[in-house]
Amino acid sequence: MRFIFAFLTISLLFSCSKNKIEKMKPWGFYYDSNFPAPVYTFQNNTVEYSRFLLGKELFFDELLSSDSTVSCATCHEQAHGFASHNSAFSAGVNNQLGTRNSPAIFNMAWNPSFMWDGGINHIEVMPIGPITNPVEMNETMQNVVQKLQNSQKYRKLFKDAYGSEYVTEQNMLRAFAQFLSMIISDKSKYDKVKRGEATFTAQEQSGYNLFQAKCSQCHTEPLFTDYQYRNNGLDASFTDLGRGLITQNTADYGKFKVPTLRNVELTYPYMHDGRFFTLNQVLDHYATGIVQSSTIDPLIQSGIPLTNTEKQQLIAFLKTLTDYELMSNPWLMEPHY
Ligand code: HEC
Ligand code: HEC
Repeated sequence: MRFIFAFLTISLLFSCSKNKIEKMKPWGFYYDSNFPAPVYTFQNNTVEYSRFLLGKELFFDELLSSDSTVSCATCHEQAHGFASHNSAFSAGVNNQLGTRNSPAIFNMAWNPSFMWDGGINHIEVMPIGPITNPVEMNETMQNVVQKLQNSQKYRKLFKDAYGSEYVTEQNMLRAFAQFLSMIISDKSKYDKVKRGEATFTAQEQSGYNLFQAKCSQCHTEPLFTDYQYRNNGLDASFTDLGRGLITQNTADYGKFKVPTLRNVELTYPYMHDGRFFTLNQVLDHYATGIVQSSTIDPLIQSGIPLTNTEKQQLIAFLKTLTDYELMSNPWLMEPHY
């Protein structure tokens, strides 16, 4: 059974090409019944197709950056679980690089906090971070609102979504929250196995058993993160203080939010600084590369011994977390008018 909070009404459609997509399946905020209740509940921001559409338009629009070269999608690519691939750091305006790897974006309605260090605590303020970050989109919220106000297309989209052509920062952020929340990954093979619609191969099942024994305390099912900040033994001293930057507490130095492992096959490179490019490297790290430090997580202090066979089994299991439907979901693709 799936929870269906909102449906698309066909009357909202206004273009032929979209018609085809929208007839494919119901649109809305629905998710696997094994998932816990989401954190974001759309309070004062009732789910509406027009709001989702506005959020999507904003997500793909370079207009939101100071020189109109960078959109959210520049760093968050659908084909890679809305993460960046190939490079550890992705370039913002003027090809400037940040210091952290772009994380995957899906199941955001379950996030109690955002960013590797949890520095942002609500989905409705989340986009302010990248828009105003000088090495990402380098804009001011005031300018963005003005640019949208000057656009006929956006005046119409805001009117459809929030009843007024007058563009406000709050409505813009609420539309973003709708789109971000609607990127849901719950159709991997793992989910199908859990729902009794598929079965693991023997190798995947062995990997799953290993995963539950050695990884799931931190990468907790079904979202594959416990949303805690932990140090998984990457460095002896910290160039990036992680959670410590936010709390200023030495006990948090070098701790980062446990990332989800859904779609991990496609979200390389890995870790907050993108230091590992393959899952093999990640498992080598856990097996033989753990570095001691003052804040290392007790669960990982003595490493996680893994034979080569076990590594292959774990990787086979991790690949069952890939949600191919998400990567090709037409609802989430760049809009073309
Ligand atoms: C230049 C690349 C870049 C651009 C452009 C960009 N992001 Fe990001 N995004 C990142 C990086 C890097 C992080 C991690 C930052 C950190 O942890 O400090 C991130 C983090 C996030 C997160 C948090 C995910 C989580 O699990 O905590 C969300 C959501 C997000 N971005 C959405 C957006 C939206 C919406 C936009 C457009 C308004 C955007 N991003 C533009 C690179 C980018
Ligand atoms: C003590 C908690 C803990 C345990 C146990 C643990 N991890 Fe992690 N894992 C983390 C943290 C924290 C990060 C992010 C660290 C960073 O970037 O600084 C991470 C990152 C990862 C990443 C990178 C994901 C990405 O998107 O960058 C993968 C893959 C991963 N772990 C797989 C595993 C596997 C497989 C196991 C079991 C063999 C495991 N982890 C056990 C805490 C843990």
